[in-house]
Amino acid sequence: MSMPSPDLDEICGTLIDLAYRAGEIIMGALPATENTGSKKNSADLVTVYDRAVEDMISSELKDKYPYYQFYGEETYDPARPLTNAPTFVIDPIDGTVNFVHGFPHACVSLGFAINRVPTVGVVFNPFTKTLYSAVRGKGAFLNRTSQLPLKRSNVEPLGGLKDSLISVEWGSERTGRNWETKIRTFERLGQSQENGGAMVRSMRSLGSAALNLCAVAAGTLDLYWEGGCWAWDVCAGWIILEEAGGIMVGGNPDEWEAEIDGRKYLAIRAASSQRSQKELVEEFWSTIQGRLEY
Ligand code: IPD
Repeated sequence: MSMPSPDLDEICGTLIDLAYRAGEIIMGALPATENTGSKKNSADLVTVYDRAVEDMISSELKDKYPYYQFYGEETYDPARPLTNAPTFVIDPIDGTVNFVHGFPHACVSLGFAINRVPTVGVVFNPFTKTLYSAVRGKGAFLNRTSQLPLKRSNVEPLGGLKDSLISVEWGSERTGRNWETKIRTFERLGQSQENGGAMVRSMRSLGSAALNLCAVAAGTLDLYWEGGCWAWDVCAGWIILEEAGGIMVGGNPDEWEAEIDGRKYLAIRAASSQRSQKELVEEFWSTIQGRLEY
C-alpha cells in the first residue's frame, strides 16, 4: 500500500478522539491491586488498564492508518527501534504510579513523529479533564481553545534557577550511578547559595513526564529535568512544549540536540528572548553532579 503524506490536522483530531475514549477506560478502572503488576521493581508498575488502553489505541490506529508505524510502551520490542518512518509514539497511561494510587495526575500521551521528530501531540488527563494538543507550526492549545503558553508566562521574563519552580523525577531506578547523579543534583538545586547550591524556589515531581512537559508548555513550571524515561513518555509533550515556545535539550551538559529516544531531557518554558532560555539551560547543566548514562 503506498503511503499518503500525513494530514497532520486530521491525525490530531483522531488522536483527540482516541484520548477521550482512553479517558473513559481509565476513569472506569477498578482500583484493585490484582489488576496491578510490576515490571523491573515495586516502583515500576503496569496495570491491566495500561494494556487495555494500548490495545484499543493500537487497533484503531492500525485500522485507520495501516501505512504508519506504531511504537507503544506496552508492546515495546528493543529489537524494533524507532525509525525515520512516520510513527505513532504512544503511552497509554503515563503516570501509572499516580493512577494506581488514585492521585489525579495521570494521562494518555499520544504522539506522532516523522523522521524521529515529534510532529503531533495530544495529552489528556481524564481526572482533571485537561487536554493539551499541538500540530507542528500551528501552535499548542489547552482544551482546544486557550493558546499556550498561558498569558502569565508571556509577561514574566525567565529568571535564573533561584527564581524558578522546577520539576524533577525520581524514576524507578534507585541505585547506581544515575541515582547518585540525580540525588546529588537535587541536593545542589535545593541547597542555599551560601552553601554552594542554586536554591531553586522549589521542586515538584508530578509523576508523569508528559504532564511535566505540558506544565512547562503552559508556563506554570519553568523547567523540567529527567533521565530514564522513554520516547513514548515525551513525544507528545515535546511538540506541545515547542509549539508553546519552549525548548527541549538533552539532560547532560552540551547536549543541545536532544534525541527523541535519548532518555534524558531538559525542557525550558517560553521566554521573551531565546538567550535567556539558553542561559537557564547552561546554569542548570552546571549544577548537574555527574552524568546521566542511559
Ligand atoms: C513514567 C512517568 C514518570 C517518569 C518515569 C516514566 P509511566 O512513565 O512518566 O514521571 O519519572 O521515567 O517511566 O511508567 O507512568 O508510563
